[in-house]
Amino acid sequence: MQSLVSVDQLEVHFAVRTGFMQSMFGKETPVVRAVDGVSFELGKGEILCLAGESGSGKTTTGKAILRLVEPTGGKVLYEGEDVRSYNRLRLRAFRQEAQIIFQDPYESLNPRQTVFSTVAEPLEVNNLCRSLAEKEERVAQALVDAGLHNPRELFLRYPHELSGGQRQRLAIAGALVLDPKFIVADEPVSMLDLSIRAGILKLMVDLRDKKGIGYLFITHDLSLAWLVSDRIAIMYLGKIVELGSADKVIKEPLHPYTRALVSVIPTPRRKVITQQSLLKGETPDPVNVPAGCRFHPRCPEAKPRCREAVPLYREVRPGHFAACHLLDS
Ligand SMILES: Nc1ncnc2c1ncn2[C@@H]1O[C@H](COP(=O)(O)OP(=O)(O)O)[C@@H](O)[C@H]1O
Ligand SMILES: [Mg+2]
Repeated sequence: MQSLVSVDQLEVHFAVRTGFMQSMFGKETPVVRAVDGVSFELGKGEILCLAGESGSGKTTTGKAILRLVEPTGGKVLYEGEDVRSYNRLRLRAFRQEAQIIFQDPYESLNPRQTVFSTVAEPLEVNNLCRSLAEKEERVAQALVDAGLHNPRELFLRYPHELSGGQRQRLAIAGALVLDPKFIVADEPVSMLDLSIRAGILKLMVDLRDKKGIGYLFITHDLSLAWLVSDRIAIMYLGKIVELGSADKVIKEPLHPYTRALVSVIPTPRRKVITQQSLLKGETPDPVNVPAGCRFHPRCPEAKPRCREAVPLYREVRPGHFAACHLLDS
């Protein structure tokens, strides 16, 4: 598969603001290791899912790839080119080709902008239309591509007049109008009713099939990841602990953390299991990352070695990567 995005040892550390007294006494500034050495490849037209609990660094990874937050280390290649080497013009083109869709369409949409101006704005900012007729045509097409019918009847509506699902489709239309090749979809259906989730997910998969768009699909819900993605990467405290084909990761998970996540996926026979029953221990804190394997304080299978040495992230089986000492023996 041709590479679309290649991420190499990406790192985003945030300095936590501390009080005057603390800096007076020369205490070290604490650092949030939001993303702490993440590497993966995303192919053209591939759907790669980044899954893991809240706070594991998924959103920050997505934003750092798009340069919406500045990485503190590592490299991001887009179609083989280092995104940090971009000049202004190339960065502008990259910002058109690479889009982000957020969880909450209420937040990402301006309530005072009509449907038309919401979708037309990126065209205007980038000076992409020669006439009003052309602009209207492109806006209408983007709305149709996002699954909104009778687009011209929606032109003068406001976001609050739309349903939740329609609003998320509007946000998707705003991304599609620039003809992207890469979309970071950050929990795109988490705020939506169960009944309309499937439609939005199907739309995203269809767009991949029709337009060859590659996705980094971010979710805390592994059952969604299984449904839509080609491959799944599992993140824990700023690191990828496992990556492989969706089927292998769900059916033959290698890492104890993945096994814990998989075991709470509802199945027809086993509808609800509380998360707490499986993942014990303190909630992970990216300021105080545990030594050794960072999952060891919560790992049901931890051995003494797991407290001491950082496990190597390696290809355990063809195309299936994981970082766990238990796989070494
Ligand atoms: N701008 C920021 N400043 C400081 N800490 C941040 C910032 N953004 C995110 N974080 C912290 O980084 C960690 C990862 O956050 P995030 O990427 O949002 O995780 P996820 O999307 O997996 O829930 C969290 O502990 C979060 O509080
Ligand atoms: Mg997030």
